[in-house]
Amino acid sequence: MSNNYTSNLHIEKAKTSKINTVDFDNLTFGRTFTDHMFICDFVDGKWQQPKIMPYQAMTMDPSARVFHYGQAVFEGMKAYKDDKGDVFLFRPDQNFKRINKSCARLAMPEFPENYFFEGLTTLVNLDRDWVKPGMGNSLYLRPFAIAIDSAIAAAPSDSYRFMIICSPAKAYYKGTVKVLIAEEFSRSANGGVGFAKAAGNYAAQFYPTSLAQKKGYQQVIWTDADTHTFLEEAGTMNVFFRINDTLITAPISDRILDGVTRKSLIQLAEDNDIPIEVRQIKVSEIVEASKNGTLQEIFGAGTAAVISPIEGFEYKDTYYNLPQIEDHSYSSILKNKMMSIQHNLSEDKNEWRYE
Ligand code: COI
Repeated sequence: MSNNYTSNLHIEKAKTSKINTVDFDNLTFGRTFTDHMFICDFVDGKWQQPKIMPYQAMTMDPSARVFHYGQAVFEGMKAYKDDKGDVFLFRPDQNFKRINKSCARLAMPEFPENYFFEGLTTLVNLDRDWVKPGMGNSLYLRPFAIAIDSAIAAAPSDSYRFMIICSPAKAYYKGTVKVLIAEEFSRSANGGVGFAKAAGNYAAQFYPTSLAQKKGYQQVIWTDADTHTFLEEAGTMNVFFRINDTLITAPISDRILDGVTRKSLIQLAEDNDIPIEVRQIKVSEIVEASKNGTLQEIFGAGTAAVISPIEGFEYKDTYYNLPQIEDHSYSSILKNKMMSIQHNLSEDKNEWRYE
């Protein structure tokens, strides 16, 4: 279905801009939105006319299925500006493919490719003043789709809404990150929706994460639901472990999100002769490596979080601190390489930038 639609994007521009009311040096992640948004409804078996309109609240029937059955998926992407004022997306094709994989798993209709790219690029172009240049600045883009049928019936909706909203962003995590390794709760199960960016995957983590936060940890590293033996992901980011000089990350599966940052870092590690292994990793392996001094680094990787070094982890009531290796850490080397590509400061041999 993806390519069967003729482009007829309607644009209604905001009469005034809010941009002068925004303090770009003091942004809290995800709290400030740009002047415009993209919206397209699926009704009577097809996607209707896509529109860009002033950012605004919307009215929905209280019985809309998304409120009751959680039929909702989303993406996280970023736009970056270089010093010349040119604006780039990073591997948007990957987000497009992934949102449609998420839609398929949640029994939602796929979104047409030309609507996605035309909507996205026109929206970012309209709000391009909101993309600030400089490393660390970006415009976070949030495409999402929800079930909008007015019907309390536990079945897929007949109608859906696809939207894109944009939020100027700096870091997702301020300061250092400490994590708790899951021993009781689980994020996802075999045959479940863990690989999809389904809204419910995030809601299900809030309670266990709040318990971890009470103990002083920002995030939980999830383990496999059956045995809590293998390390999987951190919920807002995939996770990398460095033992001696080898970087290790878990293989994607139906329980783990196929992160765009994750796959880019694997490629960058290969391109830069950093030994990288994509394999299952046991909790006992990192505990042992921490005890014998070979565990050098753990870091999370995601679009919002970028690369977040982890200071230490707790497992079975014991806290394990990680060494401080700021300058030559793989996390800082890979972060610099990736951000230089994103901000058009270095060669892009894998062709990830999209102007
Ligand atoms: C992202 O990294 O873009 C995400 O969607 C994670 C989200 C929890 C902010």
